[in-house]
Amino acid sequence: MSRIAYVNGAYVHHHHACVHIEDRGYQFSDGVYEVWAIRQGKMLDNAGHFQRLKRSLGELRIAAPMSDAALRVVLHEMMRKNRVRNGLVYLQITRGVAPRDHAFPNNTLPSIVVTAKCTNPGKADQTARNGVTVITVPDERWARCDIKSVSLLPNILAKQAAHEKGAFEAWMVDNNGLITEGSSSNAWIVSKEGVLTTRNLSSDILGGITRAHVLTLAAERQMKVEERSFSLEEAQNAREAFMTSATTLVTPITHIDAKAVGGGKPGPLASALRKDYLKSAAT
Ligand code: PDD
Repeated sequence: MSRIAYVNGAYVHHHHACVHIEDRGYQFSDGVYEVWAIRQGKMLDNAGHFQRLKRSLGELRIAAPMSDAALRVVLHEMMRKNRVRNGLVYLQITRGVAPRDHAFPNNTLPSIVVTAKCTNPGKADQTARNGVTVITVPDERWARCDIKSVSLLPNILAKQAAHEKGAFEAWMVDNNGLITEGSSSNAWIVSKEGVLTTRNLSSDILGGITRAHVLTLAAERQMKVEERSFSLEEAQNAREAFMTSATTLVTPITHIDAKAVGGGKPGPLASALRKDYLKSAAT
């Protein structure tokens, strides 16, 4: 079965899918994106991703190319056409095609692209059972990390650095020595005192949809939670560390910069939150 992509109103073969060379996403990273996890044919945290998409578009003053209802149809059609029961749906909206000029063009239609792919949920669950390792790198990003912009150069350099060191993810460290988040995930610890801790929302991090959901799960479990910054040292000495994102859901971390966290084993709380998340995120 060949893969299908959605490009500006048409379902086309993935292999031939393309946008114009003067698309502002291509030339300026002038666009936003969303990623949904699909489990058992359901889009996880659907409403949250729609809300954040709207916010990101609003911050960049890009008009929504279609209504939420129409977009929902396209996303489901993409899952159906690509037979995705477990996988990921990727959506990108850019300001559109215009002669290259930094300032916004007038009367340009936004470009929209959707792709969908299958992933192996068994493999992802096994990775979570084993736990993963992270390294740290300086956070070299811009000052509006709260916008889910396709401008991801520092993030890809961070992830590449992690892979070159055999690690799964890179945690980024700000000028004060505090962890902001992962290159494509939010960062969490369970402190020595047993408090679930993740950095507070601000323009320094992306407000993860999985993060928000895990906070509600923690409240249901009546866990002590603090949304605040933490240092590398605190993380390395924590009881547990883990990451959240649409691609990793909740994934325990066993080592940070080669130092074992929680005895180098996936933590019980992170593992429990992953199970809770899988149960409750399908909408
Ligand atoms: N990334 N922080 C950053 C920098 C991210 O890129 C992501 C997600 C997150 C977690 O957000 P969410 O829980 O809403 O997925 C945090 C996606 C998955 C990606 O770029 O592929």
